[in-house]
Amino acid sequence: MTQNSNLIWPNKKITELLKITLPIIQAPMAGGATTPELVAAVSNAGGLGSLGAGYMTADEIKTTIKKIKSLTNKPFSVNLFIPEKYHATDEQIEQARKNVQTSCSELNFHVECIKPPYAPSFEEQMNVIVEEEVPIFSFTFGIPPNNWIEIFKKNAIILMGTATSLAEAKLLEENNIDIIVAQGSEAGGHRGTFLGKAENALTSVSSLVSLLIEHIKIPVIAAGGIMNAKGIIELLILGASAVQMGTAFLCCTESGIHPLYKKLLLSLSKDNTTLTRAFSGKLARGIANEFITKMQSHEKYILDYPIQNTLTRAMRQTAAKQNNTEFMSMWAGQAAYLCKTLPAAQLIEELNREVITLLKQP
Ligand SMILES: Cc1cc2nc3c(=O)[nH]c(=O)nc-3n(C[C@H](O)[C@H](O)[C@H](O)COP(=O)(O)O)c2cc1C
Repeated sequence: MTQNSNLIWPNKKITELLKITLPIIQAPMAGGATTPELVAAVSNAGGLGSLGAGYMTADEIKTTIKKIKSLTNKPFSVNLFIPEKYHATDEQIEQARKNVQTSCSELNFHVECIKPPYAPSFEEQMNVIVEEEVPIFSFTFGIPPNNWIEIFKKNAIILMGTATSLAEAKLLEENNIDIIVAQGSEAGGHRGTFLGKAENALTSVSSLVSLLIEHIKIPVIAAGGIMNAKGIIELLILGASAVQMGTAFLCCTESGIHPLYKKLLLSLSKDNTTLTRAFSGKLARGIANEFITKMQSHEKYILDYPIQNTLTRAMRQTAAKQNNTEFMSMWAGQAAYLCKTLPAAQLIEELNREVITLLKQP
């Protein structure tokens, strides 16, 4: 154990609650990054591996959880998207389809009309988490319905919810959630905002953690732009109990992202990310590319999440097959230029060693 002023590494309050060794959480990343191999490698190395299961059907989640369990006997978390209201008329969908079509003409691909369902069944997804006795359930875009919170509590499943503002954090705490992930504006991927406009909840991770610590009693985990030991220590000093790192794991050997997405991340020398709704209808941070730029003139016609997400899915898959990164969604945080390629266990080990070394310095 290393101690420097008030900072104790590792923070036992959170490691004992989550039954892990190090307060480092590999962020859930829906869309393919968080393979069972990545999740298990992180958990085996003493951190908390997390499966981003938001886009998966119940059957896919079940199979993936079984695979994770075959690779580790350590705790891991599964993450889902809390469904929100959405609406679009047929005319709006057709207009949005035409806009996507004109914005991806280079792909020589026909953007098809779409039909519901636009997302997998949430109830079925939730059932699998309970059936498989997943120890930690993490979520974003809202708060699970009360009946589910009760079921999870009865099954001793720890609940970890995302907040991008103090109001959201308070609501999570009032609803009996165990841990809050404070998602700063630097964070890669979708904004977890569920109260008000996402554009009005773009507080930096350090400011957000500092604010939440003053008002929230349950543990706060910092997320957004954390890539190395210095970043970890900064957030722990501000009062975070642990860190959740997403982008830092994208280039790990076990990550499932497209090879060209990895290559692009590794080639960055500055922040090349932007916030966009173009791919999914929900504000998200990713590497800037042609599709995002072209869709700027059609911003008014972008559909609600998850309709826009369904509309652009086949285009994204085609772009990936054609190795064309200009039309792929490549979510990443603002410090993506610090990405390194290495096995996840080695990343965890290096972070732990560097934190210990830095804390011992006078
Ligand atoms: C590729 C990618 C996918 C993500 N998908 C999810 C997700 O499915 N669920 C979730 O709660 N957060 C998701 N996030 C956000 C992370 O939980 C976390 O807030 C973010 O990674 C922290 O910022 P960083 O990427 O700079 O470390 C995603 C982030 C990335 C980069």
